[in-house]
Amino acid sequence: MIFSKIYNYKQIISQNSYYFNSNGVYVIFIYENIKELIMGIKSIILAAGKGTRMKSEKSKGLHTIFDKTLLGYVLDAVNGTHMIEQSYVIVGHQAEAVTKFVEENYGNNAKTILQTPQLGTGHAVSMACEDLDNFDGEVIILCGDTPLITSNTLANFIDAHKDNKADITVMSAIFENPKNYGRIVRNIDQTLKKIVEEKDATREEKQIQEINAGIYCINWQKVKKAFSELKSNNAQGEYYLTDIIAWGVKKNLNVQAFTLKDNTEILGINSKVQLAEAAKILNNRNLKKLMEKGVTIVDPATTWISEDTEIGTDTIVYPSVYINGKNKIGNNCQIGPMSHIRGNCQVGNHVRIGNFVEIKNSIIKDNTNVSHLSYVGDSELGSHVNIGAGTITANYNPVTKVKNRTIIGDYANTGSNSVLVAPIQLEEGAFVAAGAVATKNVKAWALALSRAPMKVFENWVKKTKEQ
Ligand code: UD1
Ligand code: CA
Repeated sequence: MIFSKIYNYKQIISQNSYYFNSNGVYVIFIYENIKELIMGIKSIILAAGKGTRMKSEKSKGLHTIFDKTLLGYVLDAVNGTHMIEQSYVIVGHQAEAVTKFVEENYGNNAKTILQTPQLGTGHAVSMACEDLDNFDGEVIILCGDTPLITSNTLANFIDAHKDNKADITVMSAIFENPKNYGRIVRNIDQTLKKIVEEKDATREEKQIQEINAGIYCINWQKVKKAFSELKSNNAQGEYYLTDIIAWGVKKNLNVQAFTLKDNTEILGINSKVQLAEAAKILNNRNLKKLMEKGVTIVDPATTWISEDTEIGTDTIVYPSVYINGKNKIGNNCQIGPMSHIRGNCQVGNHVRIGNFVEIKNSIIKDNTNVSHLSYVGDSELGSHVNIGAGTITANYNPVTKVKNRTIIGDYANTGSNSVLVAPIQLEEGAFVAAGAVATKNVKAWALALSRAPMKVFENWVKKTKEQ
């Protein structure tokens, strides 16, 4: 959202790096995230649990889809609303690693709060009470294990909460198979009554298909008291966040549910099976977006493309391609089958990246071919370059641990099975012949050969057999 405003008085707007002091001068101020300033909403993200069902040493929030952590997806969705000024991430299990991740990647508007021991989701939220004591606004609460939630849905959810003038809004969804989720229990008149966890539910309650998505929006000053009044007399002996619904109803607060349309958005990751399911859903979303923009994807079932990859129109992606990280690929390219693009790659137009080719951290200009069995890492390839089958850029020195660059000029060629030992430069039109191990730069239009001369022994086979 772009918003411009004219200030004629001394004003300081401080939001991260946005800082203003205009001292009586007219200033035109464009601030993209103006909603954050107006709304003053904070978020609490629960990520302290052990994630027992993942059967892993790693904290659940640090498991990844396309190398991005589950917690990262949630924080990006929150930040993408441009409505949330600050997030508190509740950490516990593997607290050090999770804190390091949050500080390094989201430190500008997120901080972590330690929860030890972990006595349940309600207890987790209560850890933020001290920080938020005087906060007079709305707080949204999410779980760090629902990476498919989108900014759009969160924004609609907050808007609905405001439109309803609600004190508590819980996100719900209708699931055909609601197993393991908390169920939304309603009164006969459809108003909310409570949430009951699977483990505490009666047989009738287990039939309810409306589930708790685990995302809430609350008026902090009205609801904060709930967190000191929650009880742990339930099947798991935990302080359940879900009990704020019944608490709010009892206090005559305005308690609402916001029912989601796209159920996939709130898939909670509790196991490796669900992690794979979520990855597939996320990937399908990315592929659909690309196809809608004019990319041909021959077989979406075997193609994986990260959300940070842009691809131009009329590029064809053949089966079994895996593209990870942030990349930009141009128009009319052919990728695959069976190519692996590992991130930070800029590929021009009319480029061919063929079977069993791996590309990483490289620039490839227009009309260049890397058609078969090659590795191109930390490289810059000009246009009209032809990389022969089996060419390897030897970019990494495992002794010094240094990665070096390979620079290849326009119209250069490499023969099959050549190794380019970086740092190295092939100037325009240079030719490295098949089987070469190139360790020195090659001048423009020169030929580089490094191979033992071939010897032929006439009738050698025949004679050997006769002996
Ligand atoms: C929770 C909800 C359930 C809902 C589901 C949606 C409760 C009691 N249940 O169940 O109604 O349908 O989410 O996905 O809230 N956590 C902490 N500290 C703790 C315990 C948990 O930070 O002491 C964190 C976890 O790391 C996780 C989140 O809270 O990110 C949810 O915990 P989890 O154990 O996954 O709850 P569910 O059983 O899925
Ligand atoms: Ca969960």
